[in-house]
Amino acid sequence: MRQMEYYFQCISCNSHYDSKAMIYKCPRCQDLLEIRYDYDQAGKLVDREVWKTRSFSVWRYRELIPIENTSRVVTLGEGGTGLHRSENLAGEIGIERLSIKFEGENPTGSFKDRGMTVGVSRAVEEKARMVACASTGNTSASLSAYAARAGLRCVVLIPAGKIAQGKLAQAIAHGATILEIDGNFDDALRLVIELTNRYRSIALLNSVNPFRVEGQKTLAYEVCDQLNFRSPDVVVVPVGNAGNISAIWKGFQDFLRLGIIQKVPRMMGIQAEGAAPIASAYRAKTEEIQLIEKPETIATAIRIGAPASWKKALRAVKDSGGAMETVSDEEILQGQKSLARREGLFVEPASASSLAGLRKLVEQGLVNRTEEIVCVATGHGLKDPQIVSRIGDLPLKTKPDIESVEQALGLK
Ligand code: F0G
Repeated sequence: MRQMEYYFQCISCNSHYDSKAMIYKCPRCQDLLEIRYDYDQAGKLVDREVWKTRSFSVWRYRELIPIENTSRVVTLGEGGTGLHRSENLAGEIGIERLSIKFEGENPTGSFKDRGMTVGVSRAVEEKARMVACASTGNTSASLSAYAARAGLRCVVLIPAGKIAQGKLAQAIAHGATILEIDGNFDDALRLVIELTNRYRSIALLNSVNPFRVEGQKTLAYEVCDQLNFRSPDVVVVPVGNAGNISAIWKGFQDFLRLGIIQKVPRMMGIQAEGAAPIASAYRAKTEEIQLIEKPETIATAIRIGAPASWKKALRAVKDSGGAMETVSDEEILQGQKSLARREGLFVEPASASSLAGLRKLVEQGLVNRTEEIVCVATGHGLKDPQIVSRIGDLPLKTKPDIESVEQALGLK
């Protein structure tokens, strides 16, 4: 099996680097690196008939993923998540075609697994002894699981007291060394970058690692695959550190360049009001973001004030003709409740921001009521079980006799 040939390209100064280089940042200007391919060559390797014979998952598209030996990847069967037609919610919002891409169906319950299968496989190829990340919870849960499977030591840096219980439980169960930082996610990210700069044998698995992006872009491939190799008109994505919206946009661009789809969707990025540096820059029409020192939102997964991939996210939105929007905590909770009650999809608060944002985009006329719309729901609701007291009724305490049961149900 042959892979596409690739190289690294800096997102700012466009310098090129060889694929064998073990670097995460541009040595010249320190900005992020992206993986680029020779698309003429790639076009010859890709065969949709072959894809159909493989299971519906990240590795179905293995020719477009930069791992040398795909027979030895670290995998838990990630990707292949449902694209759920959501007629109840479409009716409520007054739109015709809405689907939810539910990333909670991934092995550790979030989209992060798409990136980790690639990132950790690369770390193994690089002979890393240890893997590390900063996280608001899901990245640490995912990395802990993939590191366990690969037999690598794992360290995760998390903001003290600010990550959801389910995510913490996962990292503990998988045996990661967990450092609770007396600070926020942005402090944790700064520290883990410094740590991995000092110790080259520790691989950095945040989304500044371009191999993670190559896994996460498969969400776009799958959506096209599920729509019979057509692109939707609009894709709505929750934005925190901004790796995911950038990765999804890259996936659509890959398929366009390869002639698999004929057009790309408009990318809509949604941030929480109290943690919205990218949406603010979009509104102000500036090319720079103002960092937020004390980001706040109930959606702890996207409680980020200094997003690493902000430049790529702004580009994705601009180049696709999309937009950025913000949502309040109340709107997020309302979105979470709607998805659970109307469609049977239990998502965590950050994940519901895409639906909450969509409502506003439709009201503003930025999304047309007849368009094909996909909302990405990034993580499972069980990640953050305590939050449900805000969206539903807690159990009714009931005595163990039939009269009490009837009374509780209002039948008597
Ligand atoms: N939704 C969920 C459930 C997330 O966990 C995250 C990010 C996002 C959306 C935003 O994605 O950062 O690529 O823009 N969680 C990271 C983490 C930061 O550490 O788990 P993004």
